Amino acid sequence: MHATRIDLPEKNRRKLADLLNARLADAIDLKLAAKHAHWNVKGPRFIALHELFDQIAGALDEPIDDVAERITTLGGTADGTLDLVSRRSSLDPYPAATVSGADHVEALAAAFAAFARSVRKAIGEAEKLGDDGTADLLTELSQDADKQLWLLEAHLQSDT
Ligand SMILES: [Fe+2]
Repeated sequence: MHATRIDLPEKNRRKLADLLNARLADAIDLKLAAKHAHWNVKGPRFIALHELFDQIAGALDEPIDDVAERITTLGGTADGTLDLVSRRSSLDPYPAATVSGADHVEALAAAFAAFARSVRKAIGEAEKLGDDGTADLLTELSQDADKQLWLLEAHLQSDT
């Protein structure tokens, strides 16, 4: 951990950095999955889903940057390399051979649901470590993840 004048004990800052790095890896993994879906989706709803998946991937850019910079603000190292992300991500591997729009929506909805669950859990952990700032950032991230999940689920529900 790097030295900082922030008034949180190093022990807590280290745990917060680990907590945030875990969610950072998930968010980067999720962004890559959404891009993969954007590039490879095929079928009758191609244009709508091609654009939706790109929008979802793009909406993760700012939160990813915010989480990474919260880690460095706390004196930690933001683990952003592909190697570290792939080792740290808690998400199931994205089913890379997926082709149809409905299957991509299902796969991304499952990934977002898992991400949203981990982020929601992390809010309470940040509070316990005495860092309302990180809890606030994670709360915003949790709301974003819920919203992206809604956008995906609305496509699934439209077929029923
Ligand atoms: Fe594109």
